[in-house]
Amino acid sequence: MRFATKAVHSGGEPDKATGAVSPPIVTASTFAQDGIGKPRGYEYSRSGNPTRERLERAVAQLEGGKHGLAFSSGLGAITTVASLLNKGDHVIMCNDVYGGTFRLFDRVFSNFGIRLTRIDARDPDAIARAAKKSTRMVWLESPTNPLMLVLDIRAISTVAKKLGLLVVVDNTFASPYLQNPLKLGAAVSLHSTTKYVSGHSDMIGGALAVSDEEVYERLKFLQNAMGAVPSPFDCFLALRGLRTLHLRMDQHSKNALAVAENLQASRRVAEVYYPFLPSSPYHRLAKKQMSQGGGMVSFRIKGGYAAASRFLDSLELFSLAESLGGVESLAEHPARMTHSSLPEKERRKMGIGDDLIRLSVGVEDTVDLVEDVKQALDSV
Ligand SMILES: Cc1ncc(COP(=O)(O)O)c(C=O)c1O
Repeated sequence: MRFATKAVHSGGEPDKATGAVSPPIVTASTFAQDGIGKPRGYEYSRSGNPTRERLERAVAQLEGGKHGLAFSSGLGAITTVASLLNKGDHVIMCNDVYGGTFRLFDRVFSNFGIRLTRIDARDPDAIARAAKKSTRMVWLESPTNPLMLVLDIRAISTVAKKLGLLVVVDNTFASPYLQNPLKLGAAVSLHSTTKYVSGHSDMIGGALAVSDEEVYERLKFLQNAMGAVPSPFDCFLALRGLRTLHLRMDQHSKNALAVAENLQASRRVAEVYYPFLPSSPYHRLAKKQMSQGGGMVSFRIKGGYAAASRFLDSLELFSLAESLGGVESLAEHPARMTHSSLPEKERRKMGIGDDLIRLSVGVEDTVDLVEDVKQALDSV
């Protein structure tokens, strides 16, 4: 079955009891049992819920994994994966990650004795150089947030496998439609389903896809033991989003490429970060591991913070807002918004300056979006 068919049918099969073609939202917290120790399939919704299971199955199928797990937020999924680690374990993380991921390791898991080394993972051999006896995990994002670097997931996974390290890829920016990290050798593919998976900026959620049975069993245990599970209603919203993921991602990618090309042509723009621009240093690699570029575009505007602020104020169709992946276009200033939780030194090291703007290009008409960006640049 091809992706579009799986997207429409995975998790959306007619309900066995009623024939309903839209997934029923089972809100029950607990389930009647046929006798002591004889549950009919479900016991308590933290450990298992029919609506959540549909979503988990769908995520697994769309990612090409054996198992899926759903969470109450992307960070809930990240926290659960990080809880595979023990005191004294060491993690290698790519430099450019979502600020909340770095904050969690830097300010929470460090208190439990988990140590972190950040590296420029564009060189896969940097993994071997940073690895210690205590290293257990490699944490990647690709494309990265917000600089749109593309990391070679297959090459990194090959190096990591030789060292016995678990590779986790935050696949939020690409979505399961554009990239499948498990097929490239990663052990865990992670999503903030808040973004492209649900796609309408109306819920907060997270998900994992895995194939290794042992890793799955440990994560399943942690999901129940830690309790960061999503509500059935949010699972329904994520399932509904998945059914149109391919259609939305096609339009996001088409619009983002057009916006990126127009930004590149502007004398007011210093640099554009979009891996599917032929001029991008990541173009070849991106085309190898992704089917399209997705909806995220970042760029540096000439004139620093003042120009960035004027540009953002002048946009009419793009709302100034954090988050990404919804049908509507959004724009934001990473240094003062999504990545403000990073210490300034970290931000500078990563290259997140006051001139950087990140766009989440929506699914509106391509020409309207390009015209909006042009008029906002003209207003700077
Ligand atoms: C790449 C990435 N991963 C994870 C997260 C965290 O997800 P959530 O906000 O659903 O907790 C975000 C949020 O912006 C993100 O951009």
